[in-house]
Parts: sequence; C-alpha cells; structure tokens
Amino acid sequence: MNPDSPIGIFDSGVGGSSIWREIHRLLPFENTIYLADSKNAPYGHKSKDEITALSIKNTETLIEMGSKLIVVACNTATTNAISVLRDTYNIPIIGIEPAVKPAALQSSTKKIGILATKGTLSSILFHKTSSAFSKEITMVEIVGEGLVQLIEAGKIESDEMTSLLLEYTAPMIKENIDYLVLGCSHYPYLIPQLQQLLPSNIKILDSGEPVARHTQNTLSSLRLLRKDTNAPTLRFYTNAETETLAALLQDFSEEISVEKKIF
Ligand code: SIN
Repeated sequence: MNPDSPIGIFDSGVGGSSIWREIHRLLPFENTIYLADSKNAPYGHKSKDEITALSIKNTETLIEMGSKLIVVACNTATTNAISVLRDTYNIPIIGIEPAVKPAALQSSTKKIGILATKGTLSSILFHKTSSAFSKEITMVEIVGEGLVQLIEAGKIESDEMTSLLLEYTAPMIKENIDYLVLGCSHYPYLIPQLQQLLPSNIKILDSGEPVARHTQNTLSSLRLLRKDTNAPTLRFYTNAETETLAALLQDFSEEISVEKKIF
C-alpha cells in the first residue's frame, strides 16, 4: 500500500462528512475519497443483512478506487456490519461508535442521553458498550426518527427539525442528563440548534475527533501517513443529487467539488 493512496470514507449519506471534516482537520495532507450512499439513506431502519450488503458495496467501491484504509463514517453501518467487513477485507477498517464511555465516565448527574438511529440502539455492539455502564449510569436512549431524512433533504434549519429536536430532547432534560451523546454521524450538523434548545450545563459529545485520531494512529503504525505536503486531492461522490452534500461542504468549495457516481 502507498502512503499517497487515499483514505476512503463512506456513510449512508451526507452526514459522514462531519467525520471527514475532523479527519481533514487532523490530517490536512491526506488524499481522501468520500462516498455518500444517499440513494439508500437512511440505513437506520434497514435490517442487519441489508446494512451489511450496502456496507460491502461501499467498501468494495472504495477499495477499487485505491483506498489505503476505510473509515465507516456511519454508526449504523459500524454497529451492524464492521465485523463482517474486517473479516472479509485485508485493509484497515475504522468504525464509529457513540461516545458512551467518555460521557458515562465524566457525568456528574450519572444520567446521560443518547440520540441515535434504531439500527444503532438495537445493535449487539451498542448493547455491549452501554451495558458496561448501565449499573451506575441512567441512559436515556432516544431514536432520532426523521432527523437523517431532514438532513438529507437539506432541511437542517426548518420548523420540522426544531419540533423533532424539542420532542427528542424533552425526556432527556426532564431526566436531568448532563451529557448528550450524538450516536449518528449526521447529527453533528445539528449541534448549533441543540445548543440553543438544551440547558447550558448539558455537554454534547460526538465521535468525529476520536475517529480522526484513531485514523492517524493506525496510519502512523502502518507507516502509511502521507509525507508529501502538496495540496491533497479531496474527492466527494454521491449516488443521489449533489446539492445537499455540496451545501454542507460549502466552506471548502474552493478545494472540492461533489460528483454524482453510480455505486
Ligand atoms: C442512517 O443512515 O440512518 C444514519 C447513519 C448513522 O447511523 O450514522
């Protein structure tokens, strides 16, 4: 494998670009390919078999495009399919899981909220992580029904979004949580609204930065970090319309363009 080969990143749609941001911030010279499987979003209600088949398709596309490492920037795909991917492909594969452990360890009220998809909250991997803390910590688990669909439709700042966020955070506030864990890579795009809705003592944790650090450490230990300090190639592909992803990445519009691709 060549250090100049790209890091391949996939998500069920546009949300994993929040993870790409953290990777690009930490590793600004790495070449990257991002695949948004928006045609099949959301994954959150699909069966484990469907999520696994889609994750295999995305991984194979990224391997064919020459990736040196794959980041599964989707909690639902990680919790349901990562072990199959790791067993099948001879390439480092990094996943993303809700930051339950740091929230549980830092919580003073011993009550934390977790907002994620049905597919993530019902997965064996999530259950394994959360049950390690469930004796000492009360976890208010809420399925973020409809949030991914609104983000995919470019309706982040909409009345529909505000009313869903009010509905989903109300039981958490009532329970006196002091940490809110975002268990879906689409949700970091909702942080500004959540900060306005939540009492100021509630801290919000997402998993972008830990995933970026894990990516850096893995590449470093495999001697696969790019040494070239020329501007990297940043490629973004979606199998649906390009507008939503391009709008989310408009702060990078001089460096990147989003292309439509069949995969
Ligand atoms: C989804 O596609 O339903 C959500 C993606 C995620 O879990 O990060």
